[in-house]
Amino acid sequence: MFIVSPSVLASDFAKLGEEIRKTEKAGAAYTHLDVMDGMFVPNMSFGAPVIASIRKESPVVFDVHLMITQPQRYVDDFIKAGADIVTIHYESCDDPAAVVKYIKSKGVKAGLAIKPATPADVVYGMLEDLDMVLVMTVEPGFGGQKIMLDMFDKVRAIRKYANERGMDIDIEVDGGLTADNVHLATEAGANVIVAGSAVYNAKDPAEVIGKMKETAAAHPFKA
Ligand code: DX5
Ligand code: ZN
Repeated sequence: MFIVSPSVLASDFAKLGEEIRKTEKAGAAYTHLDVMDGMFVPNMSFGAPVIASIRKESPVVFDVHLMITQPQRYVDDFIKAGADIVTIHYESCDDPAAVVKYIKSKGVKAGLAIKPATPADVVYGMLEDLDMVLVMTVEPGFGGQKIMLDMFDKVRAIRKYANERGMDIDIEVDGGLTADNVHLATEAGANVIVAGSAVYNAKDPAEVIGKMKETAAAHPFKA
């Protein structure tokens, strides 16, 4: 299923609940919550207490992207706060497979993210346990960056690998996605699109999300 996951990093934090409801009404089934610790990435955002307080504001799927070192220290906090999907970075800890298994054991969906320099094949051995792979299309840390189009080769490799083995997995792309380049993502096999500035800076978020959905339907996976 094709899903747009607007990143609140580009929203007005003074009215987070309202901002999330706005994108929900505009057709977004997920909300992407970027957690940054100032260590794994050179920026800080928010943590579990903020997520817990916005949980009651909207029933959308909380798609939590942890850009923090040793995420196993805080996974329980994010699950308690109401995360529906917890995505950790492959590069952020010694045993990402164990952290993924732990997330799954708590009844929450697990995602694994890879930075631009990390090859696609590191996820293959873990696909059976994963609900989602997140392929970063910018260096993590900031919204509003230019997309790295060559990252779609990794998306295509992962989609091919999964299809050949009959695995149904979500592939999310994050960073620099817009209604004008989303066709490249879906043709490569991505089906969950993070969009921060493209949605939140738009005059009409519903138009952007609608256009993304139409484009996705017209541009299915091309091996
Ligand atoms: C970057 C974050 C992204 C970011 C995307 O580290 O993971 O989710 O907010 O923002 P845009 O869509 O503006 O590139
Ligand atoms: Zn993100």
